[in-house]
Amino acid sequence: MSRLTPPRPSAGIPAQGFLLPGLAAAALALGLQPAAAFQLPQGAGLDTVRHECARCHPLKRIAETEGKTRADWEHHVVTMTDIERRPANLKAVVDYLSAHFPPGS
Ligand code: HEC
Repeated sequence: MSRLTPPRPSAGIPAQGFLLPGLAAAALALGLQPAAAFQLPQGAGLDTVRHECARCHPLKRIAETEGKTRADWEHHVVTMTDIERRPANLKAVVDYLSAHFPPGS
């Protein structure tokens, strides 16, 4: 007559609790950051940019461009969003973008 060893219900739980923080620490050590950790430069208008621009894609997309002139930023955000309905926000965002991400940045 054979007897199967019943599974030990607690096996794995302590191991997991140990493993996950270990992985997070390893990812940080490798310089991998979760997307949410990305920060745009501080400055006037940043709160508006966060509010207007994080809806459809990560804010990182802004920093990945080569920068644009003020007129190009304005054209870009007006084409992409409905921000022209909020003129104060449009101005704040274009001020911020042209100050921090001019052409060649
Ligand atoms: C209604 C959705 C939406 C909103 C809101 C939005 N975007 Fe975009 N954006 C897109 C889409 C769609 C693309 C093109 C696809 C992609 O690259 O993910 C894009 C691409 C971009 C790019 C890359 C394009 C390039 O020429 O390199 C930049 C920069 C950008 N958005 C900046 C902004 C800024 C700044 C704001 C805030 C004013 C903003 N976005 C808000 C939808 C949006």
